[in-house]
Amino acid sequence: AEVADRLPVIWLHMAECTGCTESLLRSASPSIDSLIFDHISLEYQETIMSAAGWQAEQNLENAIEKYKDRYVLMVEGGIPHGKGSHFLTIGGHGKTGEQSAIDAAEHAAAIFAIGTCSSFGGVQAAAPNPTNATSLSNVTSKPVINVPGCPPSESNIVGTLLHFLLYGSLPALDAYNRPKWAYGLRIHDMCERRGHFDAGEFVEQFGDDGAKNGFCLYKVGCKGPYTFNNCSRQKFNEGTSWPVQAGHGCAGCSEPDFWDTMGVLHEP
Ligand code: SF4
Ligand code: SF4
Ligand code: F3S
Repeated sequence: AEVADRLPVIWLHMAECTGCTESLLRSASPSIDSLIFDHISLEYQETIMSAAGWQAEQNLENAIEKYKDRYVLMVEGGIPHGKGSHFLTIGGHGKTGEQSAIDAAEHAAAIFAIGTCSSFGGVQAAAPNPTNATSLSNVTSKPVINVPGCPPSESNIVGTLLHFLLYGSLPALDAYNRPKWAYGLRIHDMCERRGHFDAGEFVEQFGDDGAKNGFCLYKVGCKGPYTFNNCSRQKFNEGTSWPVQAGHGCAGCSEPDFWDTMGVLHEP
């Protein structure tokens, strides 16, 4: 499709690990190549854009100007904020990451915080939070749709984007501004090991007979009962697997402050 027919998207990397981008790149339906050649025009994305250096920064400024009030802004990463904002500067133009995010948000048609870092601060904001990192919604007064997860699945990232592309509107949201279609139900309520939970059959220790039999992971730290996400139904990588299927339990990665509040995953 011609660039004019595609939805312009600007993706900013703040303080992050690039895991959310890795998840995006695993989109299979549509494939990532179909997504960026047929449906969206990815104007700026530090991991996969071909431009570098000053040219890349120029592209960002041009896209904000050219597609004013029409582009979608997607932000990955927590945002070193206020007195900590100088922990993140990008592109050598003397601006903090926080200022870049504020400026890009100003004329976006829709804003998605991709991942728990951008949605809630995430690991960057975990105690003692040396960079004073915070969520995207805390640095802009514009409405922000949160797509948390560490990382979110490729289908939750792309599904949120395509919903806007197809309908031109924002999805119904829960109390944390997460799309309800993805984050409306508990992991625990759709879990393939739920029958074992109800029957009182638990893994007591990793490697025991319960683990070999696929019993419930609650006693080894699974946070599925406290976590709202669709991993147990949607899975990752086109339905390949998800944490509980891998025998690991859910870490609560799509909930606010899960690093500090969800406790140790591998409890005895
Ligand atoms: Fe990485 Fe998780 Fe933050 Fe995404 S939410 S950037 S996967 S630490
Ligand atoms: Fe619930 Fe976790 Fe047990 Fe699944 S493994 S039934 S999500 S506690
Ligand atoms: Fe995260 Fe739990 Fe899903 S750890 S990936 S919300 S199963």
